[in-house]
Amino acid sequence: MAEEEIKKISLAVIRRLPKYHKCLGELLRNNVEKVSSQELGQMLGFTASQVRQDLNNFGEFGQQGYGYNVEQLYNEVAKILGLHTEHKMVIIGAGNLGQALANYKDFESHGFKIIAMFDINPRLTGLRIHGVPVYDLEELSYVINENNVDIAIIAVPKENAQQVADILSGTIIKGIWNFAPIEIKVPPHIMVENVHLIDSLFTLSYKINENKLMERLIKQKSKRFEVKEKIIKKLP
Ligand code: NAI
Repeated sequence: MAEEEIKKISLAVIRRLPKYHKCLGELLRNNVEKVSSQELGQMLGFTASQVRQDLNNFGEFGQQGYGYNVEQLYNEVAKILGLHTEHKMVIIGAGNLGQALANYKDFESHGFKIIAMFDINPRLTGLRIHGVPVYDLEELSYVINENNVDIAIIAVPKENAQQVADILSGTIIKGIWNFAPIEIKVPPHIMVENVHLIDSLFTLSYKINENKLMERLIKQKSKRFEVKEKIIKKLP
């Protein structure tokens, strides 16, 4: 796939790809060989045409009348997501969040290996937390460059996040998964993905609200219907 093609793909499509990857992975584990856009759509809650449109962004995977070969599509989606190679990661900030992330075993099973954590607190440096060694921040550049680390996770307080980002900018790091609630500035060749759990919580709150409104609307409508029925029954 040409580089300029990758750039044209919308973020909305990219954000849907992990869902395809997960679903195809399950199909593969269940020895399913082929799947139609309709079936994929049903499993994911998308329309068949949405599935076709999404996957057409990356080339001609499907065959008319046959659908998609599950294994081939799974491998292609994994390749597009950059999951065909192992990624080495470090966590900066070995506090509550850093430790929780270090304890999350699924990263490694998906090819994301956490090799080290860094902190400025001398009570944490020198420890191994969930099997991951904690080093002093001073060793960050050395460890990254020596071990070909490509992803750094920022889990320090927001006041210190830019300082950490500046150190990372001088290393071979390719991407930053930033949990600190601040927009960090880095050179354009370093990709940044900000994570805001609170946004997700707001979305949930919105959905709950929307659902309540829908339920109220349905109740009102069925009440109106009952009244109408009563009136009709009373008519001679
Ligand atoms: P915490 O206070 O438990 O841990 C922060 C750790 O960073 C401490 O161990 C501290 O010694 C270390 N630290 C401070 N400055 C440092 C530096 N310059 N270099 C290396 N280590 C340094 O805080 P917690 O709860 O783990 O949160 C960490 C960050 O993650 C905060 O910015 C918080 O706002 C953010 N956060 C974001 C979430 C999200 O959804 N994006 C969810 C939870 C936390």
